[in-house]
This record gives sequence, C-alpha cells and structure tokens, in this order.
Amino acid sequence: MVFYFTGTGNSLYAAKRLEEHPISIPQVIGKENLAFAADAIGAVAPVYGHEVPPMVKEFLQKATFQTEYFYLILTYGNRHGGAAELAHQLCRECGIQAAYINVLLMVDNWLPGFDMEEQKSLDKDVDGQLAKILADVNFRKHWISPVTDRDRAAHQEFLDHMSQMPPDAWQHLLRVTEHCVGCGICEKVCPSGSICLVNGKAVHTPGRCQTCLACVHACPHKAIQLTVPEKNPQARYRNEHISLQEIIRANFQKASV
Ligand SMILES: Cc1cc2nc3c(=O)[nH]c(=O)nc-3n(C[C@H](O)[C@H](O)[C@H](O)COP(=O)(O)O)c2cc1C
Repeated sequence: MVFYFTGTGNSLYAAKRLEEHPISIPQVIGKENLAFAADAIGAVAPVYGHEVPPMVKEFLQKATFQTEYFYLILTYGNRHGGAAELAHQLCRECGIQAAYINVLLMVDNWLPGFDMEEQKSLDKDVDGQLAKILADVNFRKHWISPVTDRDRAAHQEFLDHMSQMPPDAWQHLLRVTEHCVGCGICEKVCPSGSICLVNGKAVHTPGRCQTCLACVHACPHKAIQLTVPEKNPQARYRNEHISLQEIIRANFQKASV
C-alpha cells in the first residue's frame, strides 16, 4: 500500500515505481475511515520548504497505519534541508514508527528558483536512485536518511526568512492573468479545490492552497503566474512519465474522473 501527493508528477512517478496502483492522498483524506492495514505502507510526497505539504501532514495526523513497515520517500529538487529528520519527527508526533525515510532528487518545480527548461536537461539519475530505494524497501531495510548540521542550518535560515513574511504569504503566491480562457484544467489538477471557474475564468481562493503549483505548471496558456518573480515564466513542467490525466485523477476534488 503506497500513498502519494503530487503537483507535477514526480512523486506519482516514484509512487508508481513502488506499487502499480498507489493511492492519492487528496482523494482519500476526506473519507471517514482512515484506518489502513498492510504488511508494508509507504507514502511519497514532495518537499516544500524542507517539510511535507500541509495536506500530507494532515493525513499522517488523521490516519492510522497498522503495519510492520512504514516508510516515506520525499522527492525534492535541490536542497532537502534535513527533510528526513523533520519528517521522522512528524511521524513520531503522529504516533507513527517510521522504519525507513529516504529523499529522492528529481526536477525542481519551484518556479521562483529554477528555469524548467534547464531543470529538464539535468540528469539527476532518478531511476538509479529509485532502484536503490526499491531494493531497500523490498528488503525492508530500516534506515533514516542522514542529516548534517549544514542541512539543519539551511532549514533554520529558511525559517528565519519565513518569519519576516506574513504567515499566509504562501496563500497569495498565484495570480490568474488575462490570458485565462476558462479551460478549467487548473481546477481539475488542484488537490485542494482552491481554484475554480467563476463566470468562465479561473479564480484562486486562498486558505487551503498547498502551493503545489499544479495549476501553474498545467495551464496550457501559462495564464497562471506567480506573484513573485519567476526564473522563466514561459517554462512549465510535468514529469515526463506522467500524463495530465493522471494528475487530474490524483487531484480533482469535484467529480470522480
Ligand atoms: C512550494 C514548493 C516548495 C518547495 N521547496 C523545496 C525545498 O525546500 N527543497 C527542494 O529541494 N525542493 C523544493 N521544491 C521542489 C519540489 O520538492 C520537487 O520538485 C518535487 O519533486 C515536486 O514533486 P511533485 O512533482 O510530485 O509535485 C519545492 C516545490 C514547491 C512547489
């Protein structure tokens, strides 16, 4: 049993390598019964500011897992900042005994920091990393990815930086431009129902936005931009092995698709 959260497909790709039919966290989190039992239970999620997305945190807090082997795979693009240690601590707080936590370097979809054209051309040996992770998990290896003082300092620096910003700054990261044609793809790829069509135009409602950037990356007209400078506003990303339809199935909050 493998759960996942994804904005642009990296974490779904990794989850699919671990199990043929992984379960989308946005699709199950609203269910009444969140008690799961299996020999091994894993979750794959991207790293946002060195931590798991808020919805993944909420899922780990709400769900119960009856298993001999709980593991987490955290996809990131550039600097994990001690994500494994932070996730290990989160698991402890949720009463989950994590046997294995690893990080997986993939394309960095954070548009203020990276040009997607450049990112797509880098070879991060994702399949080589995944092969090791798969072998570890199949072997039921117990291991938490090591974290250095430098990683911890990077995270502290990030927290210090964030403390200068309004607490809801992340919620105001997106803006819909006049290029919106009302195709509704943004609404369908949003895991939290935070963007929908009103009078034929996309409207973003802050509050539960995960800032996964799924809407920004999937918009065929690049009509959703960030309110902070982007490295390349014309470059967008979706994992090459994952279709738009799969992101929609993972995230759409309105209808069963
Ligand atoms: C809001 C946000 C914050 C991010 N923070 C980090 C980070 O702290 N460190 C990092 O290396 N990558 C960071 N990234 C990049 C993603 O973790 C990475 O691209 C991930 O594989 C995306 O997974 P997905 O395609 O499943 O959404 C961030 C991306 C977003 C959208």
